[in-house]
Amino acid sequence: MIRKFNIAVVGATGAVGNEVLRVLEERDFPVGELRLLASERSEGNFLEFRGEEILVEKLTRDSFQGVDIVLFSAGGATSLEFCPAAVDAGAVCIDNSSAWRMNPEVPLVVPEVNPRDIAMFRNKGIIANPNGSTIQMVMVLKPLHDFSPIRRVVVSTYQAVSGSGRKAIDELRIQSGELLNGRPVEAGVYPHQIAFNCLPQVDSFLENGYTREEMELVHETRKIIGDQGLGVTATAVRVPVFYGHSESVNIETTDKISVARARELLAAAPGIHVDDDVNNAIYPIPVEAAGQDEIFVGRIREDETVANGLNLWVVADNLRKGAALNAVQIAEVLVKEYL
Ligand code: A2P
Repeated sequence: MIRKFNIAVVGATGAVGNEVLRVLEERDFPVGELRLLASERSEGNFLEFRGEEILVEKLTRDSFQGVDIVLFSAGGATSLEFCPAAVDAGAVCIDNSSAWRMNPEVPLVVPEVNPRDIAMFRNKGIIANPNGSTIQMVMVLKPLHDFSPIRRVVVSTYQAVSGSGRKAIDELRIQSGELLNGRPVEAGVYPHQIAFNCLPQVDSFLENGYTREEMELVHETRKIIGDQGLGVTATAVRVPVFYGHSESVNIETTDKISVARARELLAAAPGIHVDDDVNNAIYPIPVEAAGQDEIFVGRIREDETVANGLNLWVVADNLRKGAALNAVQIAEVLVKEYL
C-alpha cells in the first residue's frame, strides 16, 4: 500500500495556497488528511479538494498535531511565528515566504537544480522555497553554468501582479475597468496605479537603493547555484500582467557558449521548454506560460558587446513553478527519499 502523508496548507485561501491545492490534486500527491489553515477572516469557509468540501480553520500553534508536512504561503511574519510550532509538532515545513531563505541552516531548493540540499532539512525542519523570479532564472542558468561557469548575470524582470496575492489581482482588474470607463482610480496594494503602467519597484527599498526583490535575486541565486562569487545585478519591475513573470537575462560565461549549443543545453534540461523561432514570432509570453508547469525560454542571442555573452528571455507561471509547483516538487522528493 502507498504510504500517505498528512498535509497542512497555511494560507490555503490565498493565490499561492489555492494553487498548492490544485497541484497536489493534479500530481496525485499521496495526501492522507488535509488541513486547510488561514487567518480568522476565512475561518468556517470551505475549499474544494478532490471533489470534497474541506473546512478552513484558523491557524494557531496547535494546528499541526499529526501533520507530516506543512506548506506555508501566508507571508514572512506568519512563517517566522508558526514554522517553529509546526516543527515542534513533528512536521517538516516547506516555506514559500522569504523568512527563512537566507538562513544558512535552511536549504533553499529548486529540485531540478540542487535537489541534494533537501537533506539539510534535518537542521531546522524547514526547507525554503525560493522567490519565483529566482526559480525561473536559476532553472535556465543551471544547465549553462554546468557547461561553462557563469561569471555575471544582469536580469530585468517584468512581474505579474499575482505575485503580490489576491488583493493585487483584484486591484489590476478593478483599475483596468475603471480606467476604460473614464473613471479615476486609487492605488492600494502598490504605491501607484498598476493598470496600463510599469512600476520599477517590487517590494520595499533597501539602503543600497535596490529593492528587497532585487537583492533576493542576487543572494538566492548564489545560494542555489552554490557560487558566492557569481555576480548578479537585478532590476525588478511590476507590470500589468495577471499571471506569468518574464525576465530579460544577460549572462557572461567563462568560455563561449554558441546560440546553437545554448539551445541544445536548455532543450535537454528538465522542466525547460525552448520557444525560439523568431521568424514565426515564436517566443515565450506570459499569457501562454500561465497555467503551465515548464519554464519557457527564447530570444536566445549572442551578446555582441562581450567575448562570451548571451541574452535570453525567460517566462514562467509565477504561481506554479514560481511557487506552488516548486514547493510540491520539494515535498515529492522529501516523501520519496527522506520521510
Ligand atoms: P485569509 O484569506 O484568511 O486572509 P494572498 O497572498 O493571496 O494575499 O494570500 C495570503 C494567505 O495568507 C491567505 O490565505 C491569508 O488568509 C493567509 N494569511 C494572511 N495572514 C495570516 C495570518 N496572520 N494567519 C494565518 N493566515 C494568514
